[in-house]
Amino acid sequence: MTRTSTQVAVVGGGPAGLMASHLLHRAGIETVVLDHREVREIETTHRAGILERDSVRLLTETGVYSPGAERVLTHGDRHGGIDLRFGGRSHRVDFERLVGASVWLYPQTEVFSDLHRARTRDGGDLRYGVRDVQVHDVLGTPRVTFTGADGSPHEVTAELVVGADGSRSACRDLVEPRTRSSREYPFAWFGILCEAPKSAPELVYTRSDRGFALISQRTESVQRMYFQCDPGEDPGAWSDARIWDELQTRLAGEDGFSLVEGPVIDRSVLPFRSFVQTPVRHGNLLLAGDAAHTVPPTGAKGLNLALADVRVLAEVVERALGKKDPDLLDEYADRALARVWKAQHFSYWMTTMLHRSASDTDFDEARQLGELNSLVSSEAGSTYLAEGYTGWPAR
Ligand code: PHB
Repeated sequence: MTRTSTQVAVVGGGPAGLMASHLLHRAGIETVVLDHREVREIETTHRAGILERDSVRLLTETGVYSPGAERVLTHGDRHGGIDLRFGGRSHRVDFERLVGASVWLYPQTEVFSDLHRARTRDGGDLRYGVRDVQVHDVLGTPRVTFTGADGSPHEVTAELVVGADGSRSACRDLVEPRTRSSREYPFAWFGILCEAPKSAPELVYTRSDRGFALISQRTESVQRMYFQCDPGEDPGAWSDARIWDELQTRLAGEDGFSLVEGPVIDRSVLPFRSFVQTPVRHGNLLLAGDAAHTVPPTGAKGLNLALADVRVLAEVVERALGKKDPDLLDEYADRALARVWKAQHFSYWMTTMLHRSASDTDFDEARQLGELNSLVSSEAGSTYLAEGYTGWPAR
C-alpha cells in the first residue's frame, strides 16, 4: 500500500474537480485529484457548450491560461443573445441591451482540456484511470483508498475531501442523514453533431407543436443540435434523413427559416432530471457540481453551476484551513445552495416553457404560447431571462 497525505483529496477530475484543485493550488493548498475515467474519455464526452459571464471570468482571471493566450476568448464565440422561436417566428432576446452581458459558446470538453493543461503545467497531482475509489472517515481524518492505474493499492490521507464525482456520485451516498429532491421529465433530448456550416449565428431555442428543438454550434464546419424525444428512443433507429426531417419540421415557419444539412457524425439520447441533495457538507466532505445537484440542459446551467460551487468552495476552504476552524465550512452550503435553487428554477422554467408533454391539453398549449408571447413582448420578462441565462452575479 502506497500512502500519501495531502490537504484536500478531490474525488472527480472533471471540470468541477479540476477547477477546485486549480483554485486551491492558487491559495497554496495541496490537492490530489482522483478519477476512474481516462482523460481521453472525458475529453470526448460531449456536454453543453455555454459559459456564463462569470464562468468566463473565472477561467480568464485565475491564471488558467498564460496571459494573452486565453483560449476561451480566442477559440470561443461570444453570443450577445439567443433566439426564442415559436409560432414559426424567431424573437431575439438581446442580452447585451437588456443586462449588458453576454455568454460564450465554448464546449465543456474544451474547458476540461484547458483546466487539465493548467493543472499539469502547475505540477498538480492528478490520477486518472484509477479503480475502487473509496472514501473513509469523513467525520474524522478522511482517507481515500484506490487501486492505481498500474494495479497497486494506494491510500491518501487528507484534511478534507471534495466530492466532485458527477451525477453518479458515490461521495454523496456518504452523507447522513440526507434529503434528495428531484423531478423527472417525461422526455429526453436527441443530440447530434453534424458536419455542416452554421444555420444561425446564435442559439435558437424552439417550441413547436412537435416539441422542443435547439440549434447550437461548435465550429464553422461542425454543429450541435437537439430535439425533444421520448426517453426510450433508440438513436440507432434514426437515419440522417429522418433526423433532418424532424429538425426541419420543428424549425419551419412563415419566415422561411431552414437548417443547413450535412452528415450526422454523432447521435445520442440524453435523459435528464432536476435533482438536489442536501446537506452539501458532511463533516470533512464537501459535495460540488453534479454530485450535489443536476439540472435539465435547457439553459445550459450545469457546468456554470459547478464552477460557481467550486469558486465559493475554494474561498471557504482556504479560510477554514487557514483558521483551523471547520465550522467555517458551513458557509459553503449557505452560499452555494442559494444559487443552486435559482438555477434549478431557471432550468425547470426554460424546460417547461419550451417542451411539450403528451398529457398537455389545449389549455396547456395555449397557455405556453401565452407565456412565450408575454416574455418576448415584455422588457421585464426578457430581462429576467437575460439575467438568468448570462448568470446571476457571484456572491
Ligand atoms: C450545447 O451547445 O451543447 C448546448 C447549448 C445550450 C444548452 C444546452 C446545450 O442549453
